[in-house]
Amino acid sequence: VAQEKKWTIGFSQATTIEPWRAQFNKDIIAEAAKHPEVELIVTDGEDKTEKQVADVENLIRQEVDALLISPKESAGLTGVVQQAIEANIPVFVLDRNVETDKYTQFVGGDNVLIGRAAGEYAVELLGGPGKAQGTIVEIWGGMGTQPAHDRHNGFHEFTDKEPGIKNLLDKQSGDWKQDQAYNIMANALKSNEKIDLVYGHNDPMAYGAYLAAKDAGREKEIKFIGIDALPGEGVTWVKNGELTATFLYATPGAEGLRQAVKHLNGEKVEKAIVLPTEKVTAENAEAVLKEKGM
Ligand code: FRU
Repeated sequence: VAQEKKWTIGFSQATTIEPWRAQFNKDIIAEAAKHPEVELIVTDGEDKTEKQVADVENLIRQEVDALLISPKESAGLTGVVQQAIEANIPVFVLDRNVETDKYTQFVGGDNVLIGRAAGEYAVELLGGPGKAQGTIVEIWGGMGTQPAHDRHNGFHEFTDKEPGIKNLLDKQSGDWKQDQAYNIMANALKSNEKIDLVYGHNDPMAYGAYLAAKDAGREKEIKFIGIDALPGEGVTWVKNGELTATFLYATPGAEGLRQAVKHLNGEKVEKAIVLPTEKVTAENAEAVLKEKGM
């Protein structure tokens, strides 16, 4: 006899075209399969704020017992999150935030900390504290998302202390996409004879920049740093010597679902759960892949 579904949990995903989000969905679905009392409904915002707003309104109408949301952007999704909260649905905000803290819990990585780790490593690659020399191309994620701002701010805590470091671009966003980053980098290569390091706010963008440099025959002169460290993407690119480093940004899929179930079962949950990061370079890329069975 199939177990009766006690809880219906709605999960509103921002998009599934990005590999990290495809993995995120796999993780949450796999975790849900371990909880036979849970029915999980997953929606796909298709990278459009209006679509994701409509998805959440639908989930509210279906009276889900809990709402998990990974918003495309903060401002545009804040209203529906507030509606859910007002409808007494416990809300779990995953990875990107919204402009209210009235939700039940936030689960995600610490993007300031990751930005700092990337900035510290960039300084090291360019000669070390007080001696670093070089030019940097930074490619931003979506401007309306907190992770992009946090990844920028953390990074600059380190690089801005270095008088020998010059930033070549001013707030150029590739919206987390490889092809957009390719174009930004192709232009940067045309207008700058010397580029020493690229900092992409995620791996697809760091890799897009790498491909642009490769097409210009200049990839060997440049260090590329990204964030996410998916085994099949960032970690493999580091192993292949295409990226210099990537920093793990674990998906909050499994943990988010576990926390929601915990809350529904009447247990207390913390206001925020911070997922750990890890630096991946040529030194440990292979070991990281082995851990994942690859
Ligand atoms: C996927 C993604 C990841 C990034 C995260 C930030 O949509 O762009 O690559 O780490 O979102 O929220």
